[in-house]
Amino acid sequence: MREVGWPEPACVVQTPCLPLAERDDQAPPRLIPASPGLLCPSQAIFTQKNKLLPEPLDSKRWQGFQLEEYVIGRSIGKGCSAAVYEATVPTGRQDPQGAGHHRLLTSRGPAVAPHGETEASAPFPLAIKMMWNISAGSSSEAILNTMSQELVPASRAALSGAYGAVPYRRAKGGPKQLAPHPNIIRVVRAFTSSVPLLPGALIDYPDMLPPRLHPSGLGHGRTLFLVMKNYPCTLRQYLGTAAPSPRLATMMTLQLLEGVDHLVQQGIAHRDLKSDNILVELDADGCPWLVITDFGCCLADASIGLQLPFTSCYVDRGGNGCLMAPEVSTACPGPGAVIDYSKADVWAVGTIAYEIFGLSNPFYSQGPAHLESRSYQEAQLPALPESVPADTRCLVRSLLQRKASKRPAARVAADVLHLKLWGEDILAPKSLKLDQLVGWLLQQSAATLLAGRLTEKSCVETKLKMLFLAHLECEALCQAALLLHSWRAAP
Ligand SMILES: Nc1ncnc2c1ncn2[C@@H]1O[C@H](COP(=O)(O)OP(=O)(O)OP(=O)(O)O)[C@@H](O)[C@H]1O
Ligand SMILES: [Mg+2]
Repeated sequence: MREVGWPEPACVVQTPCLPLAERDDQAPPRLIPASPGLLCPSQAIFTQKNKLLPEPLDSKRWQGFQLEEYVIGRSIGKGCSAAVYEATVPTGRQDPQGAGHHRLLTSRGPAVAPHGETEASAPFPLAIKMMWNISAGSSSEAILNTMSQELVPASRAALSGAYGAVPYRRAKGGPKQLAPHPNIIRVVRAFTSSVPLLPGALIDYPDMLPPRLHPSGLGHGRTLFLVMKNYPCTLRQYLGTAAPSPRLATMMTLQLLEGVDHLVQQGIAHRDLKSDNILVELDADGCPWLVITDFGCCLADASIGLQLPFTSCYVDRGGNGCLMAPEVSTACPGPGAVIDYSKADVWAVGTIAYEIFGLSNPFYSQGPAHLESRSYQEAQLPALPESVPADTRCLVRSLLQRKASKRPAARVAADVLHLKLWGEDILAPKSLKLDQLVGWLLQQSAATLLAGRLTEKSCVETKLKMLFLAHLECEALCQAALLLHSWRAAP
């Protein structure tokens, strides 16, 4: 396959416009200006619709700010910096102090559901992430400051600290607060509390406990707790049992691109994207919905944005080394050096796409096929299966271009897949006419609104179309259309 380059700057549209009406394959595309409003007839409606998703604990505004209010179930995950448990805030009928639950610490701490009773008697709609606190000290302020990146996806309500928990005030120039997005985790409560002895703690993470709970523990007595919705599995776990069709896999990749686009728009880089840090839930048809989680390594600095001054080797590049974009892994520290993270997450999505399309991630795998982000050549990238549509294969390849300036931005990459999934009709002719595109967008808007109203169950396809219509940008859509045309025209 010919390596496909990103259109030269001459093709990049500066003002809202559409690719031309009559295109001859030899000549550079002609661009016809269009009014921005023309392309986004229903954008406001879909932006609003995407905000309407309720959050867990929404109906319990003043609850959930203390660990004692929760019933904790099984351990559901463990990373390098935290343990995660299923949890619930009991209703009046379920009394966490009652006979059905063990209180492990006599007067303080959450109730813990007895082993074996969890699924049958109490569903656990929440997940609590208990950070391990080795270095932050034990004051709430120090904890919240040291672990502040974890709070980036926290809602305003999560941080309001009602009833005794410490209200968190962001320092000027500190981490940004991320606006909600359907493909990004929402932390619904965050608070500090004394570290309890939770199920499996003495076996799974004894060293992280405070000496009060384990004699050789190195942890402080207090730490940060984050409450989120409980998702059934991670992307890695999902792919361990399911083999999504190429169309479904394309929709999954698209969801990651939508999430990353939102981060970039907000001036935030996740820096630790990997299949363990992506959670999955299934819609009524068994179609997966992906959510990016674990912001512990993110770059979310209001003053520097996505440009990290890299003045010394002590500056943390963030995240896991294997899935670090080449411009990050090869950056050399020095006076005036800067790492630009604006295309780093989208590169990681390119690598994860291999896993989603059924192969092993080339930047993880062992053996001769293993690639290193520092040194790989684009020609060494393994081919995706022939069953994957050619446009999608070209897109994944373009995301993994070494030069960040050649990589499409997340918004453009997402629009490529939206056009591929829903816009085959308008892409089929050699030329793309303005009125056709506008007509198609209007028709998509009407159909999506109708689909959203007609069906009660949440449908991944409808949700994705709503995201597309809510984030229409003339320039990005034009670039996506140009990319697709250029790949299709390539020999
Ligand atoms: N909301 C959730 N619902 C279900 N499982 C979750 C949830 N959050 C986390 N997990 C599980 O817990 C694991 C660890 O969580 P997380 O990645 O946030 O911790 P971490 O210590 O910061 O990880 P890392 O090692 O990547 O730094 C996840 O890989 C996942 O299996
Ligand atoms: Mg993690």
